[in-house]
Amino acid sequence: MTKDKVLIFDTTLRDGEQSPGATMTHAEKLEIAELLDDMGVDIIEAGFPIASEGDFKAVSEIAERSKNSVICGLSRANFKDIDRCWEAVKHAAQPRIHTFIGTSPLHRAIPNLTQDEMAERIHECVTHARNLCDNVQWSSMDATRTEEDFLCRTVDIAIKAGATTINIPDTVGYTAPVESADLIRMLIEKVPGADEVIFATHCHNDLGMATANSLAAVEGGARQIECTINGLGERAGNTALEEVVMALKVRGDIMPYQTGIDTRKIMNISRRVATVSGFAVQFNKAIVGKNAFAHESGIHQDGMLKNRETFEVMKPEDVGLSGTSLPLGKHSGRAALRAKLSELGFDLADNQLKDLFVRFKDLADRKKEVFDDDLMALVYQNDSGD
Ligand code: KIV
Ligand code: ZN
Repeated sequence: MTKDKVLIFDTTLRDGEQSPGATMTHAEKLEIAELLDDMGVDIIEAGFPIASEGDFKAVSEIAERSKNSVICGLSRANFKDIDRCWEAVKHAAQPRIHTFIGTSPLHRAIPNLTQDEMAERIHECVTHARNLCDNVQWSSMDATRTEEDFLCRTVDIAIKAGATTINIPDTVGYTAPVESADLIRMLIEKVPGADEVIFATHCHNDLGMATANSLAAVEGGARQIECTINGLGERAGNTALEEVVMALKVRGDIMPYQTGIDTRKIMNISRRVATVSGFAVQFNKAIVGKNAFAHESGIHQDGMLKNRETFEVMKPEDVGLSGTSLPLGKHSGRAALRAKLSELGFDLADNQLKDLFVRFKDLADRKKEVFDDDLMALVYQNDSGD
């Protein structure tokens, strides 16, 4: 089966960095951009050049150093922003200008523009961006709360003005998977010229549906997913790169799409982003959480020791981990205790193991996790007859 390619657009350095408190230094941004480029991200949104002198410098330097990825900068829909964005990204071998405006009634009310005035602005700004750069992305911000007719009109204007990618953001994480797919499908069916551009999905996680919505949008015809490492982003964050990429890899049977991401580089970049942003990854976070490949209960550990597939749908090695972890705690059973002891070099007779197991359970009731050192102390206590 041939698989359609889905482009991965990473916005950790733009939307991710917009999370309150997640600011990164210049050197940290360069390092993350290099890791993104190296892992196979197709497009890196490196920042918002007009936002600050620092953002401008970071985008310019990331553009200069980029090897494989397209380097994109964000700009509001006005000439000043677009010119500044172009000044920063033009150093890249493959530059992209991304320009946007809020198209829903709530967002139109802020600049107080009528639909006709906004339509004219989109035409002028996309045309201007396209005169500077061959690769232009248009976003109708808050698309999922924009009237269908007006959304079609904005997309139509942007395509006619030369946009090469059309992004349909779920800016406030409001949409549901079935709507996400239908919206993209509807746009592709209704807007002339839609088959000549790439449709992108950009989801936020306010209701915890960003990953599901992004994958549904792909089912509807989107071929670019916008996401961030660890799902970093404003409020509840953006779609997590590691989740959509691994979902497409693991469930290729029902979602026949491929990405160019080297998934074995996921853990390393996840840890680096957590460190530089100061946003720790929750233990039970899918794919990159500390517990994503850890099993403590006796039934699960016993199953895992016999066949990894009993309780894991993907291999930890595929995301860059050295293996599964079977931490010992009060829910653990004899099989995991025996396996851990043998890993530590102890081969206990059945009666010794039986005795140790009782003392291990007693300790585990008092401690959250029983570490190797605790276990060795228990074994030596046994030996010395204490
Ligand atoms: O969430 C959003 O709508 C955005 C746009 C700027 C694309 O981040
Ligand atoms: Zn966003």
